[in-house]
Amino acid sequence: MKMKIAVLPGDGIGPEITEVAKKIVEAVADKFNHSVSFEYGSCGADAIDKYGNPYPEETHALCKKSDAVLFGAVGHPKFDNDPTAKVRPEQGLLAMRKRLGLYANLRPITTFESLIHQSPLRADLVKGADFLCVRELTGGLYFGRPQGRSEDGNVAYDTCVYSREEVERIVRLAFEFAMQRRKKLTVVDKANILATSRLWREVAKEMEQDFPEVQTEYMFVDNVAMRLIQWPTSFDVIVTENMFGDILTDEASVITGSMGLLPSASIGLHTSVFEPIHGSWPEAAGKNIANPLAAVLSAAMLFEYAFNLQEESDIIRKAVKASMDEKITTADIRTKEEKSYSTSEVGEWLVDYIKKQYCP
Ligand code: IPM
Ligand code: MN
Repeated sequence: MKMKIAVLPGDGIGPEITEVAKKIVEAVADKFNHSVSFEYGSCGADAIDKYGNPYPEETHALCKKSDAVLFGAVGHPKFDNDPTAKVRPEQGLLAMRKRLGLYANLRPITTFESLIHQSPLRADLVKGADFLCVRELTGGLYFGRPQGRSEDGNVAYDTCVYSREEVERIVRLAFEFAMQRRKKLTVVDKANILATSRLWREVAKEMEQDFPEVQTEYMFVDNVAMRLIQWPTSFDVIVTENMFGDILTDEASVITGSMGLLPSASIGLHTSVFEPIHGSWPEAAGKNIANPLAAVLSAAMLFEYAFNLQEESDIIRKAVKASMDEKITTADIRTKEEKSYSTSEVGEWLVDYIKKQYCP
Protein backbone atom coordinates (compact mmCIF):
# COMPACT_ATOMS: atom_id res chain seq x y z
CA MET A 1 0.00 0.00 0.00
CA LYS A 2 1.09 3.58 -0.68
CA MET A 3 0.72 5.93 2.28
CA LYS A 4 1.09 9.69 2.30
CA ILE A 5 1.38 10.98 5.80
CA ALA A 6 1.40 14.59 6.96
CA VAL A 7 3.44 15.20 10.10
CA LEU A 8 2.51 18.21 12.24
CA PRO A 9 4.86 18.16 15.22
CA GLY A 10 3.61 21.42 16.75
CA ASP A 11 5.00 22.82 19.99
CA GLY A 12 6.77 21.81 23.19
CA ILE A 13 7.44 18.09 23.33
CA GLY A 14 5.43 17.64 20.10
CA PRO A 15 8.48 17.35 17.80
CA GLU A 16 10.26 14.76 19.98
CA ILE A 17 7.33 12.41 20.42
CA THR A 18 6.17 12.72 16.81
CA GLU A 19 9.65 11.85 15.64
CA VAL A 20 9.39 8.59 17.55
CA ALA A 21 5.91 7.89 16.15
CA LYS A 22 7.18 8.57 12.63
CA LYS A 23 10.05 6.11 13.06
CA ILE A 24 7.60 3.49 14.27
CA VAL A 25 5.39 4.04 11.22
CA GLU A 26 8.47 3.69 8.99
CA ALA A 27 9.57 0.49 10.71
CA VAL A 28 6.12 -1.08 10.43
CA ALA A 29 5.68 0.03 6.81
CA ASP A 30 9.05 -1.46 6.02
CA LYS A 31 8.15 -4.73 7.66
CA PHE A 32 4.87 -5.10 5.77
CA ASN A 33 6.14 -3.72 2.45
CA HIS A 34 4.14 -0.53 2.36
CA SER A 35 5.63 2.52 0.77
CA VAL A 36 5.27 5.49 3.05
CA SER A 37 6.15 9.13 2.50
CA PHE A 38 6.11 11.95 5.05
CA GLU A 39 5.66 15.65 4.57
CA TYR A 40 6.00 18.15 7.41
CA GLY A 41 3.65 21.01 8.17
CA SER A 42 3.59 23.78 10.72
CA CYS A 43 0.88 24.44 13.31
CA GLY A 44 0.34 25.95 16.75
CA ALA A 45 2.71 28.49 18.31
CA ASP A 46 5.34 27.40 15.82
CA ALA A 47 3.08 28.48 12.95
CA ILE A 48 2.11 31.73 14.69
CA ASP A 49 5.80 32.62 14.89
CA LYS A 50 6.42 31.70 11.26
CA TYR A 51 3.17 32.70 9.52
CA GLY A 52 1.08 34.60 12.04
CA ASN A 53 -1.53 31.83 11.78
CA PRO A 54 -1.75 28.69 13.97
CA TYR A 55 -3.20 26.63 11.08
CA PRO A 56 -1.85 28.12 7.84
CA GLU A 57 -3.40 27.41 4.45
CA GLU A 58 -0.30 25.44 3.40
CA THR A 59 -0.79 23.14 6.36
CA HIS A 60 -4.46 22.65 5.57
CA ALA A 61 -3.65 21.85 1.93
CA LEU A 62 -1.05 19.35 3.09
CA CYS A 63 -3.57 17.63 5.40
CA LYS A 64 -6.21 17.53 2.67
CA LYS A 65 -3.92 15.77 0.18
CA SER A 66 -2.54 13.28 2.71
CA ASP A 67 -3.99 9.91 3.75
CA ALA A 68 -3.46 10.56 7.46
CA VAL A 69 -2.05 13.18 9.80
CA LEU A 70 0.37 12.48 12.63
CA PHE A 71 -0.08 15.30 15.09
CA GLY A 72 2.09 16.20 18.09
CA ALA A 73 0.73 18.85 20.42
CA VAL A 74 0.12 22.60 20.46
CA GLY A 75 0.36 25.24 23.15
CA HIS A 76 2.84 27.67 24.60
CA PRO A 77 2.84 29.41 27.99
CA LYS A 78 3.56 32.80 26.46
CA PHE A 79 -0.03 32.76 25.15
CA ASP A 80 -1.68 31.21 28.22
CA ASN A 81 -0.76 34.10 30.44
CA ASP A 82 -1.68 36.80 27.99
CA PRO A 83 -5.43 37.46 28.03
CA THR A 84 -5.04 39.99 25.22
CA ALA A 85 -3.39 37.60 22.74
CA LYS A 86 -5.29 37.84 19.45
CA VAL A 87 -4.31 34.40 18.17
CA ARG A 88 -3.62 31.32 20.23
CA PRO A 89 -1.94 28.03 19.31
CA GLU A 90 -5.04 26.06 20.38
CA GLN A 91 -7.08 27.87 17.72
CA GLY A 92 -4.94 26.07 15.15
CA LEU A 93 -6.01 22.70 16.49
CA LEU A 94 -9.65 23.75 16.53
CA ALA A 95 -9.42 25.12 12.98
CA MET A 96 -7.87 21.88 11.80
CA ARG A 97 -10.61 19.79 13.44
CA LYS A 98 -13.34 21.98 12.02
CA ARG A 99 -11.96 22.31 8.49
CA LEU A 100 -11.22 18.61 8.18
CA GLY A 101 -14.69 17.84 9.54
CA LEU A 102 -13.27 15.66 12.33
CA TYR A 103 -16.44 15.30 14.34
CA ALA A 104 -15.44 12.17 16.23
CA ASN A 105 -12.56 11.89 18.62
CA LEU A 106 -11.88 8.31 19.72
CA ARG A 107 -10.03 7.96 22.99
CA PRO A 108 -9.54 4.38 24.10
CA ILE A 109 -8.64 3.83 27.74
CA THR A 110 -6.84 0.57 28.36
CA THR A 111 -4.79 -0.54 31.31
CA PHE A 112 -1.46 -2.32 31.15
CA GLU A 113 -1.00 -5.09 33.66
CA SER A 114 2.61 -4.09 34.40
CA LEU A 115 1.59 -0.52 35.15
CA ILE A 116 -1.40 -0.97 37.39
CA HIS A 117 0.63 -0.13 40.48
CA GLN A 118 1.24 3.36 38.98
CA SER A 119 -2.42 4.24 39.00
CA PRO A 120 -3.53 6.52 41.83
CA LEU A 121 -6.51 4.17 42.16
CA ARG A 122 -6.49 0.82 43.90
CA ALA A 123 -5.30 -1.99 41.64
CA ASP A 124 -8.45 -4.07 42.18
CA LEU A 125 -10.59 -1.19 40.89
CA VAL A 126 -8.48 -0.54 37.82
CA LYS A 127 -7.67 -4.05 36.72
CA GLY A 128 -9.38 -4.86 33.43
CA ALA A 129 -10.65 -1.33 32.77
CA ASP A 130 -11.08 -1.05 29.02
CA PHE A 131 -13.39 1.49 27.48
CA LEU A 132 -13.69 3.83 24.54
CA CYS A 133 -14.63 7.49 24.88
CA VAL A 134 -16.27 8.87 21.78
CA ARG A 135 -16.01 12.63 22.10
CA GLU A 136 -17.88 14.97 19.74
CA LEU A 137 -15.21 17.29 18.36
CA THR A 138 -16.57 20.01 16.11
CA GLY A 139 -19.55 21.40 18.00
CA GLY A 140 -20.73 22.55 21.39
CA LEU A 141 -19.16 25.28 23.47
CA TYR A 142 -15.89 25.13 21.56
CA PHE A 143 -17.46 26.45 18.39
CA GLY A 144 -20.84 27.94 19.30
CA ARG A 145 -21.46 31.57 18.43
CA PRO A 146 -21.94 34.15 19.80
CA GLN A 147 -18.84 34.07 21.92
CA GLY A 148 -17.19 37.10 23.40
CA ARG A 149 -17.43 40.05 25.72
CA SER A 150 -19.78 42.91 26.25
CA GLU A 151 -18.52 46.29 25.15
CA ASP A 152 -17.45 47.32 28.64
CA GLY A 153 -15.63 43.99 28.98
CA ASN A 154 -17.45 43.02 32.16
CA VAL A 155 -19.65 40.28 30.76
CA ALA A 156 -18.42 37.26 28.81
CA TYR A 157 -20.39 34.55 27.04
CA ASP A 158 -20.00 31.24 25.19
CA THR A 159 -22.77 29.38 23.42
CA CYS A 160 -23.43 25.67 23.36
CA VAL A 161 -25.11 24.63 20.10
CA TYR A 162 -25.88 21.22 18.63
CA SER A 163 -28.07 20.28 15.71
CA ARG A 164 -29.91 16.96 15.43
CA GLU A 165 -27.61 15.94 12.54
CA GLU A 166 -24.48 16.60 14.59
CA VAL A 167 -25.80 14.52 17.47
CA GLU A 168 -27.06 11.73 15.24
CA ARG A 169 -23.79 11.08 13.44
CA ILE A 170 -21.69 10.87 16.58
CA VAL A 171 -24.19 8.81 18.58
CA ARG A 172 -24.59 6.41 15.66
CA LEU A 173 -20.85 5.95 15.49
CA ALA A 174 -20.77 5.23 19.22
CA PHE A 175 -23.55 2.62 18.85
CA GLU A 176 -21.53 1.00 16.04
CA PHE A 177 -18.43 0.82 18.22
CA ALA A 178 -20.51 -0.65 21.03
CA MET A 179 -21.71 -3.36 18.63
CA GLN A 180 -18.09 -4.30 17.90
CA ARG A 181 -17.23 -4.34 21.60
CA ARG A 182 -19.15 -5.45 24.68
CA LYS A 183 -22.42 -3.90 23.49
CA LYS A 184 -22.82 -1.34 26.21
CA LEU A 185 -23.20 2.39 25.63
CA THR A 186 -23.21 5.19 28.19
CA VAL A 187 -24.68 8.44 26.89
CA VAL A 188 -23.29 11.27 29.01
CA ASP A 189 -25.12 14.57 29.33
CA LYS A 190 -26.53 17.13 31.70
CA ALA A 191 -30.13 16.79 30.57
CA ASN A 192 -31.48 18.03 33.89
CA ILE A 193 -30.04 21.46 33.07
CA LEU A 194 -29.05 21.91 29.44
CA ALA A 195 -31.27 22.12 26.35
CA THR A 196 -28.52 20.67 24.14
CA SER A 197 -28.27 17.69 26.48
CA ARG A 198 -32.01 17.08 26.20
CA LEU A 199 -31.63 16.98 22.41
CA TRP A 200 -28.76 14.49 22.79
CA ARG A 201 -30.86 12.27 24.97
CA GLU A 202 -33.87 12.46 22.67
CA VAL A 203 -31.82 11.53 19.62
CA ALA A 204 -30.01 8.68 21.39
CA LYS A 205 -33.29 7.27 22.71
CA GLU A 206 -34.73 7.23 19.18
CA MET A 207 -31.65 5.50 17.87
CA GLU A 208 -31.79 2.75 20.46
CA GLN A 209 -34.30 0.85 18.33
CA ASP A 210 -31.73 0.57 15.51
CA PHE A 211 -29.36 -1.14 17.97
CA PRO A 212 -31.55 -3.41 20.10
CA GLU A 213 -28.58 -5.53 21.17
CA VAL A 214 -26.83 -2.60 22.79
CA GLN A 215 -27.54 -1.96 26.43
CA THR A 216 -27.86 1.82 26.61
CA GLU A 217 -27.65 3.86 29.78
CA TYR A 218 -27.99 7.61 30.32
CA MET A 219 -25.94 9.37 32.94
CA PHE A 220 -25.30 12.92 34.03
CA VAL A 221 -21.76 14.08 33.50
CA ASP A 222 -21.13 14.80 37.19
CA ASN A 223 -22.14 11.27 38.05
CA VAL A 224 -19.88 9.87 35.34
CA ALA A 225 -16.96 11.90 36.71
CA MET A 226 -17.48 10.08 39.98
CA ARG A 227 -18.06 6.64 38.56
CA LEU A 228 -14.93 6.79 36.39
CA ILE A 229 -12.97 6.73 39.62
CA GLN A 230 -15.23 4.45 41.63
CA TRP A 231 -15.93 1.80 39.04
CA PRO A 232 -13.97 2.27 35.79
CA THR A 233 -14.58 -1.31 34.67
CA SER A 234 -18.32 -0.62 34.38
CA PHE A 235 -17.83 1.28 31.10
CA ASP A 236 -17.58 -0.03 27.54
CA VAL A 237 -18.35 2.86 25.16
CA ILE A 238 -19.00 6.39 26.39
CA VAL A 239 -20.37 9.05 24.06
CA THR A 240 -20.52 12.71 24.92
CA GLU A 241 -20.35 16.28 23.69
CA ASN A 242 -17.11 18.17 23.09
CA MET A 243 -16.41 19.86 26.44
CA PHE A 244 -17.63 17.00 28.67
CA GLY A 245 -15.47 14.66 26.59
CA ASP A 246 -12.44 16.88 27.00
CA ILE A 247 -12.75 16.89 30.77
CA LEU A 248 -13.73 13.26 31.27
CA THR A 249 -10.88 11.93 29.14
CA ASP A 250 -8.25 13.84 31.09
CA GLU A 251 -9.76 12.34 34.20
CA ALA A 252 -9.90 8.88 32.63
CA SER A 253 -6.29 9.12 31.55
CA VAL A 254 -4.96 8.93 35.10
CA ILE A 255 -6.72 5.61 35.64
CA THR A 256 -4.08 3.95 33.49
CA GLY A 257 -1.18 5.35 35.49
CA SER A 258 0.04 8.04 33.13
CA MET A 259 -1.41 10.55 30.74
CA GLY A 260 1.62 9.86 28.57
CA LEU A 261 -0.01 6.64 27.42
CA LEU A 262 -3.27 7.71 25.87
CA PRO A 263 -3.63 7.97 22.11
CA SER A 264 -6.51 9.32 20.06
CA ALA A 265 -7.90 9.28 16.57
CA SER A 266 -10.03 12.06 15.15
CA ILE A 267 -12.15 10.94 12.26
CA GLY A 268 -14.86 12.46 10.14
CA LEU A 269 -15.30 13.88 6.68
CA HIS A 270 -11.73 14.35 5.45
CA THR A 271 -8.25 13.15 6.44
CA SER A 272 -8.08 11.58 9.91
CA VAL A 273 -5.72 12.95 12.54
CA PHE A 274 -3.84 10.87 15.10
CA GLU A 275 -2.59 12.55 18.23
CA PRO A 276 -1.78 11.84 21.86
CA ILE A 277 -4.30 13.27 24.28
CA HIS A 278 -1.62 14.91 26.42
CA GLY A 279 -0.53 18.46 25.72
CA SER A 280 2.71 20.13 24.72
CA TRP A 281 4.38 20.09 28.19
CA PRO A 282 6.59 23.12 27.44
CA GLU A 283 8.78 22.63 30.54
CA ALA A 284 10.04 19.34 29.11
CA ALA A 285 10.59 20.55 25.54
CA GLY A 286 13.93 19.54 24.09
CA LYS A 287 14.90 17.50 27.17
CA ASN A 288 14.28 14.11 25.59
CA ILE A 289 12.29 12.96 28.63
CA ALA A 290 8.68 12.95 27.40
CA ASN A 291 6.90 9.63 27.17
CA PRO A 292 6.47 8.82 23.46
CA LEU A 293 4.01 5.97 24.01
CA ALA A 294 0.82 7.98 23.53
CA ALA A 295 2.16 9.16 20.17
CA VAL A 296 3.29 5.63 19.31
CA LEU A 297 -0.12 4.20 20.20
CA SER A 298 -1.66 6.95 18.07
CA ALA A 299 0.42 5.56 15.19
CA ALA A 300 -1.16 2.17 15.92
CA MET A 301 -4.58 3.81 15.57
CA LEU A 302 -3.40 5.36 12.30
CA PHE A 303 -2.83 1.95 10.73
CA GLU A 304 -6.16 0.73 12.05
CA TYR A 305 -8.42 3.67 11.21
CA ALA A 306 -6.78 5.39 8.24
CA PHE A 307 -5.70 2.24 6.40
CA ASN A 308 -7.69 -0.59 7.95
CA LEU A 309 -4.48 -2.53 8.60
CA GLN A 310 -5.01 -4.52 11.77
CA GLU A 311 -1.80 -6.57 11.92
CA GLU A 312 0.32 -3.46 11.48
CA SER A 313 -1.52 -1.85 14.31
CA ASP A 314 -1.25 -4.94 16.54
CA ILE A 315 2.51 -5.20 16.15
CA ILE A 316 2.86 -1.65 17.53
CA ARG A 317 0.68 -2.44 20.54
CA LYS A 318 2.66 -5.60 21.13
CA ALA A 319 5.92 -3.62 21.06
CA VAL A 320 4.54 -1.09 23.52
CA LYS A 321 3.38 -3.80 25.89
CA ALA A 322 6.78 -5.49 25.65
CA SER A 323 8.61 -2.25 26.44
CA MET A 324 6.52 -1.89 29.57
CA ASP A 325 7.01 -5.49 30.62
CA GLU A 326 10.77 -5.06 30.12
CA LYS A 327 10.65 -1.69 31.90
CA ILE A 328 12.18 0.18 28.98
CA THR A 329 10.22 3.35 29.58
CA THR A 330 10.55 7.02 30.39
CA ALA A 331 10.72 8.22 33.99
CA ASP A 332 7.03 9.13 34.36
CA ILE A 333 6.11 5.46 34.62
CA ARG A 334 9.11 4.28 36.63
CA THR A 335 9.77 4.47 40.34
CA LYS A 336 12.74 6.53 41.51
CA GLU A 337 14.82 3.43 42.10
CA GLU A 338 14.24 2.02 38.64
CA LYS A 339 16.31 2.90 35.61
CA SER A 340 14.48 5.06 33.10
CA TYR A 341 15.12 5.75 29.44
CA SER A 342 14.96 8.84 27.27
CA THR A 343 12.27 9.53 24.66
CA SER A 344 14.57 8.56 21.80
CA GLU A 345 15.93 5.48 23.59
CA VAL A 346 12.41 4.15 24.09
CA GLY A 347 11.79 4.85 20.39
CA GLU A 348 14.91 2.98 19.33
CA TRP A 349 14.01 0.01 21.50
CA LEU A 350 10.54 -0.16 19.96
CA VAL A 351 11.87 0.08 16.40
CA ASP A 352 14.35 -2.63 17.15
CA TYR A 353 11.63 -4.83 18.66
CA ILE A 354 9.43 -4.39 15.60
CA LYS A 355 12.32 -5.22 13.25
CA LYS A 356 12.92 -8.47 15.12
CA GLN A 357 9.34 -9.71 14.90
CA TYR A 358 8.55 -12.51 12.54
CA CYS A 359 6.18 -11.49 9.79
CA PRO A 360 4.95 -13.82 7.09
C1 IPM B 1 -7.47 18.13 23.78
C2 IPM B 1 -6.92 19.47 24.15
C3 IPM B 1 -7.54 20.51 23.28
C4 IPM B 1 -9.03 20.50 23.54
C5 IPM B 1 -7.00 21.94 23.41
C6 IPM B 1 -5.49 21.97 23.27
C7 IPM B 1 -7.65 22.86 22.42
O1 IPM B 1 -7.11 19.73 25.51
O2 IPM B 1 -7.28 17.70 22.63
O3 IPM B 1 -8.09 17.48 24.62
O4 IPM B 1 -9.51 21.12 24.50
O5 IPM B 1 -9.75 19.87 22.78
MN1 MN C 1 -8.04 18.08 26.59
